[in-house]
Amino acid sequence: MSRQTAPESDPNPLVREVYDELGELLQEGDDAFIEKGPARLADAIEQDGFFENVTTDPAAPDEYTREKVIGDPGEHVIRFMEWPPEYTLMPHEHHGRPCFEVLVDGHLTLSNLERTEVGDGEYAFDVVDSEVTDPGEPAVVDPRKNEIHAVYSPVRSRSLHVYPSDNWRAFGYVPKDDTPDNDVYERREFTLREPGD
Ligand SMILES: [Fe+2]
Repeated sequence: MSRQTAPESDPNPLVREVYDELGELLQEGDDAFIEKGPARLADAIEQDGFFENVTTDPAAPDEYTREKVIGDPGEHVIRFMEWPPEYTLMPHEHHGRPCFEVLVDGHLTLSNLERTEVGDGEYAFDVVDSEVTDPGEPAVVDPRKNEIHAVYSPVRSRSLHVYPSDNWRAFGYVPKDDTPDNDVYERREFTLREPGD
């Protein structure tokens, strides 16, 4: 009889357990993943020992970090983000598939945005809605409903994010110029991490 052993890279068995359950939800489909996954992860992080060997990469004042917690090759991934105080992650798009986060500490504001093309490859944004999460609360990003969003952390914050696949390229929007009243952005492709990280 063969016995499956957890990969050595697993931080602890509680993380593996919720990771595998999230994989089963993904097998059911993206709707099941975002309907049931956030509550499942929020419950999991309440368990004693969940954060054993689960840490963030400390964030410098000007950049958030995305430490991988667990992710089998070619499968979904859980990442542990750390956000510096008063940090804005500029408007960006995902890859057509939903994802979610559960806040661990601090506060995060997630704003859904609508873009208007105001020039060749230039856009302005309106906020459709905003959601502020407290520790233990989840938030869902569903590009099937709204593609573009931005994130703001008023204080140093940490959050767990679950993505159906571990993409490393994304499209984001950068300010056209750095004047204080600039509200025009240009669309760019950017790298979330190095391949293989
Ligand atoms: Fe995002």
